[in-house]
Amino acid sequence: MAEKKETNEKMEAIIALCKRRGFVYQGSEIYGGLAGTWDYGPLGVALKKNIENLWWKMFVDDREDMYGIDAAILMNPNAWIASGHVGGFSDPLVECTKCKKRFRADLLTDKTKCPECQGTLGEERQFNMMFKTNIGATEGEGSITYLRPETAGGMFVNYKNVVDSIHPKLPFGLGQIGKAFRNEIAPRDFIFRVRELEQMEVEYFVHPKTWEEHFELWRKEMWRFIEAVGIDKSHVHELEVGDGDRAHYSKRTIDFEYDFPFGRKELYGLAYRTDFDLKSHQEGSKVNLEYYDEETKEKFLPHVIEPSLGVGRTMLAVLSEAYTEDEMGGEKRVYLKFNSALAPTLVAVFPLLKNKPELVAKAREVYAMLKNKLGRVSFDDNGNIGKRYRRQDEIGTPYCVTIDFDTLGEEKPEYKDTVTLRNRDTGTQERVLISDLVAKLK
Ligand code: GAP
Repeated sequence: MAEKKETNEKMEAIIALCKRRGFVYQGSEIYGGLAGTWDYGPLGVALKKNIENLWWKMFVDDREDMYGIDAAILMNPNAWIASGHVGGFSDPLVECTKCKKRFRADLLTDKTKCPECQGTLGEERQFNMMFKTNIGATEGEGSITYLRPETAGGMFVNYKNVVDSIHPKLPFGLGQIGKAFRNEIAPRDFIFRVRELEQMEVEYFVHPKTWEEHFELWRKEMWRFIEAVGIDKSHVHELEVGDGDRAHYSKRTIDFEYDFPFGRKELYGLAYRTDFDLKSHQEGSKVNLEYYDEETKEKFLPHVIEPSLGVGRTMLAVLSEAYTEDEMGGEKRVYLKFNSALAPTLVAVFPLLKNKPELVAKAREVYAMLKNKLGRVSFDDNGNIGKRYRRQDEIGTPYCVTIDFDTLGEEKPEYKDTVTLRNRDTGTQERVLISDLVAKLK
């Protein structure tokens, strides 16, 4: 089931590092893999959570007009009929008449010849990307439902619940982070295009007359997030999506494209979904979804601005930005230049030697103190100090703290209770008092 990856040298290096250091593994690897699925290891899950927490803080916690929700992945199938996904959430598919391989027609330069065996390609047809499943013990037409293809659906069907229970005033938005599933014809480029993905989405409800103003505000917010995760803004480009290329629900879409190692591709999308979804769900559910403005006494269906961000694509862009090769101490070095908000580990603490109980005890003491204050702190006593630095550099740890004999004040009493603080990017080291460490690191 494993599929061939189209990649280049930098991608190969990132994928190898991700596996070697426990960021991302191929899904179901010991069974030969399952195309379009990837598993996040201990460091990958830490990086992913830091990305999600930053998004949640910026777009939910720090705002007065945003409310978080966490809707079920399985929904009443009528919701997906109303939203137009059952009828139209599809990609153009072509099949080779000779080798029977299937391709996404819009990604081929020559739509007549198979890129693998040069055989003739058959007629183009639409392939619905939703994963079907059966709910309950009986299988049949009546039990079919779908794994959600976007997290958005759960927010639209809960719009009325939030209005009735929280009574927010327009404009306001719902934010959700969660899994979505797409039976992609051609999953590829590591975690770029997968079949099981994670999205961070906002559905922002506004008065129809103000959509342009809010579209511009969210456009700025997306740039702010791009900067906050440490992506160089000159590597991101806005693309105004043309009439024929937008999703069925959108009247205006801007794609934010990133210069991935394998080319310029969509990172995020910002869409003006009009009242398409609320209107469709109102018709489909026969429940009135109009908003009543108590001040103006107006009743109307709000319009929606939707900034939609993929977690995996953020992570891949962040990895691509952070991946750096240089030379240190005459040796080639690979390191991840994560910013402190995202680094899985902020500080690693080492005893200089692991067979000296007095050094280990002091290092454990410093580790416990830092862990308590800073959280993302690890203890490392494996191999020699040079190896530990290399390992921490490779996983993007911004600072390392070493406890040595001077910390104990054995030879140089003036250094007692100081440690070595090493900076990942420059390799420079300075002596810092243990009591100053937290303030310095913060
Ligand atoms: N609710 C709107 C929506 O889902 P989309 O452009 O289809 O719009 C939004 O997806 C974002 O989700 C994309 O910009 C990308 O970051 C991410 N995404 C979509 N499909 C993906 C896939 N197959 N693998 C990884 N990420 C994906």
